[in-house]
Amino acid sequence: MTRKPIIAGNWKMHNNSVQSKELIKGIKEKVKEFDADKLPEIVVAPVFTSLAAVNEELCHCGCGCNRVKLAAQNVYFEPKGAFTGEISIDMLKDFEVSYIIIGHSERRQYFGETDEMINKKAKVILDNGIIPIICCGETLEQREQGVTDSHIAKQITEALKGLSAEEVAKSVIAYEPIWAIGTGKTCDSTEANRVIKHIRSVVEKEAGKEAADAIRILYGGSVKPETIVEQMAQSDIDGALVGGASLKADSFADIVKGAMAK
Ligand code: PGA
Repeated sequence: MTRKPIIAGNWKMHNNSVQSKELIKGIKEKVKEFDADKLPEIVVAPVFTSLAAVNEELCHCGCGCNRVKLAAQNVYFEPKGAFTGEISIDMLKDFEVSYIIIGHSERRQYFGETDEMINKKAKVILDNGIIPIICCGETLEQREQGVTDSHIAKQITEALKGLSAEEVAKSVIAYEPIWAIGTGKTCDSTEANRVIKHIRSVVEKEAGKEAADAIRILYGGSVKPETIVEQMAQSDIDGALVGGASLKADSFADIVKGAMAK
């Protein structure tokens, strides 16, 4: 089973539209040099207010800019209405997003997102022909208590509830141990691979072997150009969700390059 790797940059709450445009231009410039046949899927997730500016840069003129796909960092599951501060799937479709990140630990921790909300978001995203990047991961405390696997199994089971095997197969999961996010402390590659294999077994239980073999599962948490080659060499790591190192064109492009060996 070959799964096309993904390198996704989560820009979090950084970069206004002018800065976002600069960054995407820099990334395009770098990745256009790379061998197209070996490229992973390259995805960037700017803030909502930069989606238009970045999308404008992602034309299909053949200059290599169509090598980068657009993602949003969140969506609300209701189609419209009195939900101040939220954004709907239709509104995101204006910007031709290919992916939407959901259930990031920062959303869960600071904005009270629950597994049930994440499941509703996954459904709305898939119903609209977009691909969810469903994040999961344990805290340091959970890891120390030895409940990592059961916690992640619950997050994934709840997120995938009611999805068809086909929908699960095209979805993306990002395993992001919370203690590794933004700390510079990457999870050991073999351990990340072990947890990702465990996630694949949970997916198999929920949606069957075909979906489990097809779904792409990324690692996230302090991914850097120096760590990516070893991470990608693991059997079950299909790419990376990159925060800090995606904010500079050079380091993001180096991560893309490192993933090309897979
Ligand atoms: P980091 O963030 O690469 O800065 O650790 C990853 C993420 O939160 O997606």
